[in-house]
Amino acid sequence: MADQPIGVFDSGIGGLSVLQALMAELPHERFVYVADSGHAPYGERGDAFVAERTHAIADYLLAHHHIKALVVACNTATAAAIHEVRMRYPQMPLIGVEPALKTAVAQSQTGRIGVIGTRGTLASAKFARLLDSLQGQAEFVIQHCKGLANAIEWSTGHPPASAAQNSEIHRLCQTYTQAMGPFGKGAGQIDSLVLGCTHYVFAIDELRAIVGSEIAFFSTGEPVARQTRRLLETQGLLAIPDQPDAAHLTQLLTTGALIDLQAAALRWLHLPAQQCSQANDLH
Ligand code: DGL
Repeated sequence: MADQPIGVFDSGIGGLSVLQALMAELPHERFVYVADSGHAPYGERGDAFVAERTHAIADYLLAHHHIKALVVACNTATAAAIHEVRMRYPQMPLIGVEPALKTAVAQSQTGRIGVIGTRGTLASAKFARLLDSLQGQAEFVIQHCKGLANAIEWSTGHPPASAAQNSEIHRLCQTYTQAMGPFGKGAGQIDSLVLGCTHYVFAIDELRAIVGSEIAFFSTGEPVARQTRRLLETQGLLAIPDQPDAAHLTQLLTTGALIDLQAAALRWLHLPAQQCSQANDLH
């Protein structure tokens, strides 16, 4: 079982930011990544749709790739469906992502924290419970960023992003951060920004240029990678390190256009086109 791959998925290329951290933390593991780009964005769809896709992908990864663990590298899918996947596969190590509010609370000095994410994540009961658990510890400024994940999804594909696509990302980042109020280190200002969507990591330079380099950013890739390691370790499921680096064994699959995934894999993970293919049996 330890030899089997770890499944990872997202609505599209956003979860590659989590895969990046997983590959760095667990260099001997094989990963099978599914980009459900044919059905992106999840954030603007209802929970029922996202739950249905999550089940289809989990079933597919188990049946066709015999995964030993599953990382749901999507905040929206985690919020909508992780509890159901856990009930359906109680034995399978399952790791989800959620906005890194707790880490931000521990590090913020002004106590005013910005959180950006999809509508699906920020309107979910799971997120409401997370906020409740931190009540009184900080003030959260929450902003749903309609269209941002989609703009990032399409800008990383093929052909390389046009000036218009890049300026759309910039426009959206500016509009949404402006709506949140002043960023800075002064009293009453937002000094921390939590990226509650895995796609947003790929717009971090854009966001940083807008809100200022003194603002702390919190994403979930690294903590999730460490949690995955701990879970596999306790269950005796870590791969035997028989090769220094298993990156060349990682497989990337898409339900969208292959050429887009290949462009994103090369750009963000330096993985060659041959490691990408169409997820033909996933419907
Ligand atoms: N990357 C996903 C997340 O973390 C969702 C983006 C989308 O498809 O809307 O929520």
